[in-house]
Amino acid sequence: MSEAPGPPIGLLAELTHRCPLQCPYCSNPLELVRARDELPAATWCRVLDEAAELGVLQVHLSGGEPTLHPGLEAIVARCRALDLYSNLITAGVLLEARRIEALAAAGLDHVQLSVQDVDPAAADRIGGHRGGHARKLEVARMVREAGLPLTLNAVVHRQNLDRLEAMIDLAVELGAHRLEVAHTQYYGWALVNRAALMPSRAQIERASAIVADAARRLKGRLVIDYVVPDYYARRPKPCLGGWGRQMLAVTPSGAVMPCHAAATIPGLAFATVREKPLAWIWAESEAFRRFRGSDWLPEPCRSCERREVDFGGCRCQALALTGDPHATDPACELSPFHGAMTGLAEREAGAAPPPFVYRRPRKETPTVPAGLEVV
Ligand code: SF4
Ligand code: FES
Repeated sequence: MSEAPGPPIGLLAELTHRCPLQCPYCSNPLELVRARDELPAATWCRVLDEAAELGVLQVHLSGGEPTLHPGLEAIVARCRALDLYSNLITAGVLLEARRIEALAAAGLDHVQLSVQDVDPAAADRIGGHRGGHARKLEVARMVREAGLPLTLNAVVHRQNLDRLEAMIDLAVELGAHRLEVAHTQYYGWALVNRAALMPSRAQIERASAIVADAARRLKGRLVIDYVVPDYYARRPKPCLGGWGRQMLAVTPSGAVMPCHAAATIPGLAFATVREKPLAWIWAESEAFRRFRGSDWLPEPCRSCERREVDFGGCRCQALALTGDPHATDPACELSPFHGAMTGLAEREAGAAPPPFVYRRPRKETPTVPAGLEVV
């Protein structure tokens, strides 16, 4: 059973899975949607009409690399016509000044640019794209020159965390309004690469102190958002504000999911925007109702005072680590798997990092690490 939902706040529009970068922490699925199966701009515009009608306020244009979608300007213009706040989440390396100006003229509200590191060689190695970092710095300046607000998005892990202070300095230098420091979330390619990415507890503690200090020091100049590292947490995050409560994600081929990793959950069927209205999918579809609210929660969540705060944590993480999407997220110390999760993080961080598995198209599906055993 699930409660009647209020309107979603945001829509994540994954315009394409194609991308010039190959980041080993990518949250895209291991099976990428092919270009020929992508929704055209006309369908995206209809989806935006339905989203505005439903009450959505913000549209995050993402991917893959959304600037590879030929209809991006038309999609941005539709957001503006509907008064939807549009946020372009981009790797940046394909952008040129003229395109940024065209997007600004079409009504784009905000740009979120990823950076992989501050050291150019390290950044290019992580992103699997030579020359990418230098290009991103140019693009950041072009974005500001076009008058658009800029957020830098830094996914952090064991191989770049020791340069976090310099990443904060870079955000200030580039005139970013906001910096998102996001500890890697282990879904998709990041789960495949977990051992290569897992930081130590000492790195985490130092990073948290650096962020707290910078947030104080730079108040009024730079907002820092901090996505905490689940594997060393004591309580889980309310993933995306709770299942089917605030966000919907539309894949490049039009499947609508409560989160970007929901396709990993076996037995969940996703309606598509090609066949069903967004409002029906949000309110009625089985995938959105399955884990909405707290009525479905098992123990220990069912009788926990935080059940309406975190809704038992992340379903996709519970599945990846326990084999059961209904289980309490092991990030919670009340989960019987919590000790095994922390132990695994410490073991992986303590060993030499294996080489990255990049997300470029491959013949065989890469190996996903096994789940946890209760200890
Ligand atoms: Fe959240 Fe469940 Fe842990 Fe309580 S027991 S804090 S509801 S995950
Ligand atoms: Fe799917 Fe958290 S990523 S519920």
